[in-house]
Amino acid sequence: MSLHLSQFLGQILARPQEVGAILPSSSYLGREMTDGLGVGTGPVIELGPGPGAITQAILGRGVPASDIHAVEMNPTFCDILARRCPGVRIYPASATDLVALNLPRVSTIVSSLPLRSIPADVVLAIMVAAHDRLLPGGRILQFTYGMRQPVASQTLDELGLACIAGPKVWRNLPPARVFSFQRGV
Ligand SMILES: C[S@@+](CC[C@H](N)C(=O)[O-])C[C@H]1O[C@@H](n2cnc3c(N)ncnc32)[C@H](O)[C@@H]1O
Repeated sequence: MSLHLSQFLGQILARPQEVGAILPSSSYLGREMTDGLGVGTGPVIELGPGPGAITQAILGRGVPASDIHAVEMNPTFCDILARRCPGVRIYPASATDLVALNLPRVSTIVSSLPLRSIPADVVLAIMVAAHDRLLPGGRILQFTYGMRQPVASQTLDELGLACIAGPKVWRNLPPARVFSFQRGV
């Protein structure tokens, strides 16, 4: 078992609600979560990078490490991420602090946050903060293991975010679906 995997499993046991997964995301889910990203995308915000499975997929699309702003509240994962993905800008903070972090406004936010296990008022605070950092026409890419998209429809309506469902990624444990929450122009 790789060191990353054993540390991931250790954090699941220590903080099950916060991690909200049984395994790191697969490369197949990583590809779906980074659809459309490339060398010219500009800065990208990543929420809940954990030990870096999706971060590596973002890098694999050609986004420079210094253009990735990764917000992760678990200090163990921040340490692993710094070693595994050098040059990525890591913010050891909660996604609720996004506005205070003064990150650039971006065309894409990539989120692995376990929204279904986060209280509704916190999800609302995260979505409002994420929306604030989105450029007009920008999108939030969010995966979920659930049947439905994980944000209250009322929240999406109030923020003017349209929801587009991607294909189910079966080659992930558990299988997951990526939703794109798109801001109007
Ligand atoms: C499902 S894991 C995803 C890890 C990795 N991105 C992957 O796909 O394998 C969720 C991650 O979100 C982090 N997290 C949970 N709540 C958070 C919050 N409010 N702010 C920042 N990170 C958070 C957890 O510490 C964990 O690393």
